[in-house]
Amino acid sequence: MKKYTNIQDIESIPEIIKEAIQLKQQPYQFEEIGQHKTLVMLFFNSSLRTRLSTEKAAKNLGMQVMILHVNEAWNLEFEDGAIMNMNSAEHVKDAAQVISQYADVIALRAFPTLKDKEKDISEYVLNSFVKYASVPVVNMESATAHPLQALTDAITIEELKTKSRPKVVLSWAPHPKALPHAVANSFVQMMSELEVDFSITHPKGYELDSEITKEIPIHYNQEEAVKEADFVYVKNWSSYAEYGEIVSQDSNWMLSKERLGAAKFMHCLPVRRNVVVADSVLDSENSVVIAQANNRTYAAQIVLKKILENL
Ligand code: CP
Repeated sequence: MKKYTNIQDIESIPEIIKEAIQLKQQPYQFEEIGQHKTLVMLFFNSSLRTRLSTEKAAKNLGMQVMILHVNEAWNLEFEDGAIMNMNSAEHVKDAAQVISQYADVIALRAFPTLKDKEKDISEYVLNSFVKYASVPVVNMESATAHPLQALTDAITIEELKTKSRPKVVLSWAPHPKALPHAVANSFVQMMSELEVDFSITHPKGYELDSEITKEIPIHYNQEEAVKEADFVYVKNWSSYAEYGEIVSQDSNWMLSKERLGAAKFMHCLPVRRNVVVADSVLDSENSVVIAQANNRTYAAQIVLKKILENL
């Protein structure tokens, strides 16, 4: 694997899921592969799971890890040919090349502005690092994608499914803040590649990018949509059409235990309890969110392993 910026970088999804599950059984079996290799993790935004699971994954492979909270470093310029007489002290062209002197792999988290749609869709932060770094880049959640989370989710479904073609539903949920589309986008893309009966449910106005959802069925009635589901993945996102806006906060979309039924409850976390989902769901045996969080390590580890094998 040359990079991991979206799930299209995976050669075979069924194969990588299988390998990740095997790796989970013996996480230290490849600890030689990362000897004398360094992962530099760059954070433009906050993280708990991605930060810790990716570091753990790298260390399981014998790598050294360095972390930079970019907002504590120099303010980066991304525009080619910019006259840098304002707030930006360093161009990404220089920064990415310099970081590549210290890193064998760069992992990067940079959320969208949710204000400038065109700029966000261009993935200018992630793509600038891909362009100027001389080492592979891993996406730890960008403006439009969270491929490590999507691989985690696929691993979790594979481990927990009880039928060959489970029914999986992605449901929007209310949230007081405008959130990105990245988790939902990558989950949709991943489910489109798996042997699952997949649909999406959300209120009108929360349609995701149609280039991503393509022909996937969309339902506007959550109760109907989740009936007899095996997995219900709950996530908030802001409007894509009215870019970055909150067009509904309808609390009827908070997933209840009654509505979940016998399905397994999935969420990438962090989650706002009793806003996005009821305590009674999160604290029930149906919730697999901690198993999901655990699998973040093995998703990151299999990706790093494949990148290290290609160095
Ligand atoms: N799910 C996820 O990416 O969690 P963090 O934002 O805490 O990394």
